[in-house]
Amino acid sequence: MIPKLTISRIIDAAHIDEVVGEFVALKKRGSSLIGCCPFHNEKTPSFNVSVAKNIYKCFGCGKAGNSITFLMEHQQLSYTEALRYLAKKYNIEVVEEFVSEEKQREDEIKHSQQESILIVNQFAQRFFTDYMLNNEEGRVGLAYFKERGFSQQTIDKFQLGFSPESGSLLTETGLKQGYQLEILKKAGLTSAKEDSRFDFFRNRAMFPIHNLMGKVIAFGGRIMKKDEKAPKYVNTPESDVYIKSKILYGIFQAKSDIRKKDECLLCEGYTDVISLVQNGIENVVASSGTALTVDQIKLVKRFTNNITLLYDGDSAGVKAALRGTDLILEEGMNVRIVVLPEPEDPDSYIKKVGTTAFEDYVKTHKQDLIVFKSSLFAAEAKNDPIKKAELIKDIITTVAKIPDAIQRSVYVRSCAEKFGMSEQLLIIEVNKLRRKNQTTKPKEEEYQGPPSYEQQVESELHKTQQVEIATLSLEYYERDIVRILMEFGAMRIKYDEQDETIAKFIFDELEGIEFETKYKYAFDMIKQTDPPLETNAYMHHEDQAIAVIAYELLTSQHEISDGWWKRYQVIVPDKQMLFQKDMFSAVLRLKQYHSLEQVKLIEEQLQLETDEIKQIELLKKLQVLNAQRIDFNNETGTVIFRPNMGKS
Ligand code: UTP
Ligand code: MN
Repeated sequence: MIPKLTISRIIDAAHIDEVVGEFVALKKRGSSLIGCCPFHNEKTPSFNVSVAKNIYKCFGCGKAGNSITFLMEHQQLSYTEALRYLAKKYNIEVVEEFVSEEKQREDEIKHSQQESILIVNQFAQRFFTDYMLNNEEGRVGLAYFKERGFSQQTIDKFQLGFSPESGSLLTETGLKQGYQLEILKKAGLTSAKEDSRFDFFRNRAMFPIHNLMGKVIAFGGRIMKKDEKAPKYVNTPESDVYIKSKILYGIFQAKSDIRKKDECLLCEGYTDVISLVQNGIENVVASSGTALTVDQIKLVKRFTNNITLLYDGDSAGVKAALRGTDLILEEGMNVRIVVLPEPEDPDSYIKKVGTTAFEDYVKTHKQDLIVFKSSLFAAEAKNDPIKKAELIKDIITTVAKIPDAIQRSVYVRSCAEKFGMSEQLLIIEVNKLRRKNQTTKPKEEEYQGPPSYEQQVESELHKTQQVEIATLSLEYYERDIVRILMEFGAMRIKYDEQDETIAKFIFDELEGIEFETKYKYAFDMIKQTDPPLETNAYMHHEDQAIAVIAYELLTSQHEISDGWWKRYQVIVPDKQMLFQKDMFSAVLRLKQYHSLEQVKLIEEQLQLETDEIKQIELLKKLQVLNAQRIDFNNETGTVIFRPNMGKS
C-alpha cells in the first residue's frame, strides 16, 4: 500500500499541464492552455487546462478532473497505477507501507492464482478457436457462426471458438502442455468427480468474455442443437477473476468507441453485441441476460454518462429493461431506452434492416427512461385510480434517485403534466423519498482497495458534514448563546445605527424562541436581569445553579475562524472584537435549528392534510422557510466551529 503521505506528495508534485501535455498537444490561450479533447471527437479545441487550478475541463463534453483522474480515464489506469505513474514521472520514491508477511503471502498466492487462471483461459480460448478452424468437428461451429452472418474478421475480433463434444480433450491437452489441473478447475474449464474429469463446455459455440484489458476471464457457450432441457447458454462459474456482476460483455472491444460517441448501447445478448459491431455500431455491450448491477454501470460510467438500452419488443425484454434502471439514474447517468419492434432483438433487427435504418430507428425511438416508464403504464392505469397511484409512486421513486436537482425538476414537471397532478405535491413526495434514501444508505462496505480521488474528496466532504451534524445539537447552540450572554452581554454593540447591549441584541434576535435544554434556566434568568451583569458577577452568582454554569462555560476555550460576518458590514476593529462574529454565528445557528424544526413539522402536517387549499397554504409556508434556510446556510456555511471543551 502506498502511504497517505506519499500520496499527497505525489498529488502536490503533479502539474496538470505536464501530465496532460504528454498526451495532448496544448497551446497557450490567455491564462490557461487549450487543446483538442482526448475524450471526445472534436476539431476545434475546447479542452482547457488551468495551470493555476491544476485541473482540466472540456467545454465540449464536460469531462473535468485532475492529473490522477486524467491518467485513470485516458490511460485506463487504476488509482494506484496512476499514483505510481506520477511518482515515477516526478521522481518520488514510493516506499510501500508494511503489510504483514502472512497477508502479503496470501495476496501473492491469490494474485498468482488469478494470473494462472488468466493464462489458462488464454490457452483455452486458443484451443477453442483452433479447434473451430482446424478440426472436422469444430468446423460445425465455424459454419454456425458463418450462417449467423459473422465474418471471419468478426470471429477473430471476438476470438470465437468451438468446444469438442466428447469427453475431456481440452483438459487433457492442457495437462499435456503443463497447465495444472487445479487451475483448470479453478478457471471453470474442467469439472472433476473423484478420479474422472471432463470438460465443462462440450459441443458449444464459444464466446470468450474479456476484461477491460482484453484478457479472457470467462466463456459463454451456446448450444448447437435445439434442446428443451439444456440451457441455451452456459457460462463459466464465477471465480476470483470472473464476477458476473462486474463485467459487461464486449466492453474491451467497445470502450474506445463508447468514449468517442459519448454513448453506450446496452443490449442483452452476446450475439447482439457481435452483430452490431460487425455492422459498424461499435459502442455496444451486453449485460448477458442478467439484471444490470451498479458495478456494471460504474464500468460504463468510466467512458460515458449516456446509456441507451436496446431491448427486444417482447414484454420479458421490457421488464428486464426496467430492472436495474433506477441504479443507472442513481449514478447520475442519462438513461434512454429503445424498444425494438416485436419479435426482433438487436441482432435480428440489424440483419433485417441494415445499419442506416437501424440507426434511424434508434434515433427516432429513443425515449427518456422515465417518460417511457410512465407511458408504458399510463394507458393501463388511466381508469384505475389505485393502479394510477401505484404507478405515480413508482415513477416518483425513480425520479427521486436522480442526483441532479435540475434534471429532477424537469421530470417532475413532465410527470405532473402527464398525470394531471400538482407539481408541488410531486416535489414534496420526491423530497421525502430523497431524505429517506439518504438516511437508509448502508454505511461501510467491504474493503474495495485504495480510495479513488473522488472517494477521497467525498469522504472529506462527508467528514465536514459529520462535524456539522455533531455541532448541530440544540444543546450546543443554547450553551453557546448563554456563554456569550455571560461573557459579553453587558458590552455594547453599534449595529444598524443603534447602540445597545449585546444582551439586548441577542434577546431581540431570538424573540419567540424558547430554550429547551439545561441552559433554559440560565437563559431565562439573564433575560430578566436588566442591565446585564458583568462576567465576574455570573461566576460569583448567589444562585449556585447559575454560578456552576458560568464556571463551566467561561473557563472553556472557544475557537472560531473567519467568516460570514463581513456580510453584516459590522466594522470590526481587530481581535478584541472577535466575539462579534462569534455571536452572529451563534444566533444564526440557533435560528437555523428552529427553522429546520418548523420545516419538519409542516412536512408532517402536509402528509396528513387532505384538503388541497390547506396543502397549498402549508406549501407556501414551507417555501418561505426553505428560502430562509438557504440564507442561513449561506451565512453560516463559512463559519467553522471548533468547540474545545477542555480548559484553557
Ligand atoms: P437470448 O435468449 O436473447 O439469446 O439471451 P441471444 O443472445 O439472442 O442468442 P441467440 O441469438 O439465440 O444465439 C440473451 C442473453 O442471455 C444470456 C446470454 O448471455 C444471452 O446472450 N443467456 C440466455 C444465458 O446466459 N443463458 C441462457 O440459457 C439464455
Ligand atoms: Mn438472438
